[in-house]
Amino acid sequence: MAEPAGSPGLGAGESWAQGLPLRILVTGGAGFIGSAFVRLLLGLPDPPQVIVLDALTYAGNLANLAEVADHPRYRFMHGNICDPAAVEAAVAEVDCIVNFAAESHVDRSILDPGQFIQTDVFGTYVLLEAARRHGHGRFLQVSTDEVYGDVEAPRLSTEDDPLRPRSPYAASKAGGEMQCRAYHATYGVPVIVTRGSNTYGPYQYPEKIIPLFITNALEGRALPLYGRGTAVRDYLYVDDHARGIAMVLARGAIGAAYNIGQGDAPIDGQTVARSVVELTGSDPALVTHVKDRPGHDLRYALDTTRMRQMGWSPTRTLASGLEETVRWYQERRDWWEPIKSGAFWDFYRRNYRPLAGAGPVP
Ligand code: NAD
Ligand code: DAU
Repeated sequence: MAEPAGSPGLGAGESWAQGLPLRILVTGGAGFIGSAFVRLLLGLPDPPQVIVLDALTYAGNLANLAEVADHPRYRFMHGNICDPAAVEAAVAEVDCIVNFAAESHVDRSILDPGQFIQTDVFGTYVLLEAARRHGHGRFLQVSTDEVYGDVEAPRLSTEDDPLRPRSPYAASKAGGEMQCRAYHATYGVPVIVTRGSNTYGPYQYPEKIIPLFITNALEGRALPLYGRGTAVRDYLYVDDHARGIAMVLARGAIGAAYNIGQGDAPIDGQTVARSVVELTGSDPALVTHVKDRPGHDLRYALDTTRMRQMGWSPTRTLASGLEETVRWYQERRDWWEPIKSGAFWDFYRRNYRPLAGAGPVP
């Protein structure tokens, strides 16, 4: 294990950063949460070396990393985690791996499951093989609360619960986790897993409910609510998720899993839609009920005691985080308007046209 980074100048709230490894590989660092994690690390008083390995799929965007592009401790490597040569070149230069790289959208996994298995399972295996060869200090697998499957009220999922994934995306993430578990048990690879909840905030590709609804509302388009809009999720602000992952990297126990979630009463789709309408000053008639998502998980809810015992807690409520997020999308049309073109609408047409009422699609 490498010497920890961090400096005596750290504030009390950042003392966890002293436990961070010195050289960190962030796969998928050009995506939504990965880029927030990179910006967090490089904003620390004495930052570690950060290498980003990212294939720049439709969801990867170097604009997410523009503010750190010239940072002396940052380097970008364009490459695929399924490519052993690209992985080897990156892994040779670091002490630990944090794997954010994934296909991450449930609706796309329902349309095309194969790419999810490729990246989320096989790609994780390629990274684990490299970690095994290099004898790294830590391998942090960024996973999701979706691996627990649908959770009946009033239960909260704890880290020891069985994994019961139900969507192709969730199954691919559970498959990645299982590889991690096997590599820990069989080869002693020092794996840690985080299971985060539904994350939202700046720089999120506008396909998940919050950024899709905000940008659709700003364009005067329909907000397509699946089924009755009663499915509930635990919504977490992206910077809180990124800080939770960094704390687990610094302080987490090898072999353990950590639920990272807001931990409040879960929020349903209708509430998300209503809040977006209010915050954007849009017409409530934009909210349209469409055919439900196949296999829709109706409830995720996390027990976050383990993270809170580590000293982590969210800094935003959903109300404050959503307000900030809406403001960001209002101010950063330069970021999202170019994304909502070409290939974005190809996906949108495939996913939403069969659902009556989703409104006109360009
Ligand atoms: P994202 O889709 O915004 O970004 C994924 C990133 O991975 C992109 O930069 C993409 O280019 C890159 N990538 C994809 N395939 C790759 C490959 N084969 N090789 C290298 N890079 C590749 O995803 P996100 O929302 O930031 O999620 C990041 C991670 O967190 C994922 O593992 C996801 O499963 C997990 N997660 C997401 C959420 C959420 O609500 N968004 C919640 C919990 C966990
Ligand atoms: O729970 C963590 C997971 O959250 C992450 O692992 C995934 O990467 C992320 O995509 C997210 O998965 P969900 O399927 O929960 O997120 P999504 O934003 O797609 O959907 C949230 C809820 O909103 C869900 O009940 C479905 C509903 N929804 C979603 C979309 C895109 C709609 O009603 N209409 C929509 O158009």
